[in-house]
Amino acid sequence: MIAGTGSYLPERMLTNADLVKMVDTTDEWIVSRTGVRQRHLASDDQATSDLATAASLKALEMAGKEPGDLDLIIVATITPDHFFPSTAALVQNNIGAGSAAAFDLEAACTGFIYGLSVADQFIRSGMYETILIVGAEVLSRYIDWEDRSTAVLFGDGAGAAVLVPSQDSSQIISTHLYCDGSMKDLLSAPGGGSRMPPSYEMIDKKLNTIKMKGNETFKIAVTKLSEVVDEVLKHNNITEDEIDFLIPHQANLRIILATARKLKLSEDKVVITVDRHGNTSAASVPLALDYAVRNGKITRGDTLLLEAFGGGLTWGAALVRW
Ligand code: ACO
Repeated sequence: MIAGTGSYLPERMLTNADLVKMVDTTDEWIVSRTGVRQRHLASDDQATSDLATAASLKALEMAGKEPGDLDLIIVATITPDHFFPSTAALVQNNIGAGSAAAFDLEAACTGFIYGLSVADQFIRSGMYETILIVGAEVLSRYIDWEDRSTAVLFGDGAGAAVLVPSQDSSQIISTHLYCDGSMKDLLSAPGGGSRMPPSYEMIDKKLNTIKMKGNETFKIAVTKLSEVVDEVLKHNNITEDEIDFLIPHQANLRIILATARKLKLSEDKVVITVDRHGNTSAASVPLALDYAVRNGKITRGDTLLLEAFGGGLTWGAALVRW
């Protein structure tokens, strides 16, 4: 079960009005096409592990656990502090989690759902009892601020959850993970790795920044999320009316509402943060979950459907009894 959640958003804010001064766009276009009104940006001295650490401490506090109780730390991110050591290792050291196992997991915006599934397997197998899963990103370092098609979409932030064995009906009921690597070029940051190592030419061409074929990605996202939501219902032999809240990846309000319609859920049953956070990739689902938990929207016993879609392409869902 998820014993506690936490989140952290950097103080610095970038509004649509700020973006209008930077690229050829309008507040009307951004709001109507994406739903985003503002996004948080890390300060110059903050890296992903700093955001992850702040969110982790809050999740541990809500769960009533000490850092030393942790057996494993998983950080889902596409913007690690370094290639290595892992961001999870940095978080482990920052919070003082002894020698808990720690690794990063990369599934882009679906990272938190992947992390939740991996953590759940460790708990079900009996290998570990207390696991911290963090989704954290500083995407602002990988955005081409002159490309209006991506600059308006993304934000920075971190969300975390502490998983422990279930004592009652609160549990991760099922998780469903997918990837189709043939669609890798729809959404990527092509430069900077072993395929295209850092070079002056690569940086000049901004190939280390996020490139996205937005319209194609949009259509596939709606289709794949619809399929995976159907699968969750069938797999668990439940109907739409048994879902209390949808906690979707916050990429685009139109994608979120398409999935809500599919589930016949009214808007008050959907946790929406995309207007305030933008797309924070792996951080978006745990940020939305923590927001809903701390605002008392979600209470113990509620059935939650978490879903996400992102680069890879990856997609997935989790049915959770809070
Ligand atoms: N302001 C004004 N006009 C713009 C902007 C902007 N910021 N950006 C693009 N446009 C223009 C385009 O140039 C285009 O103009 P044209 O018709 O003259 O060529 C027009 O708007 C339409 O562009 P589209 O890309 O077709 O717009 P669309 O309605 O598809 O919206 C968006 C774009 C918001 C990116 C949408 O496609 C989307 O949300 N895609 C899915 C994103 C997603 O889910 N990603 C996965 C997670 S991210 C991750 O894993 C890291």
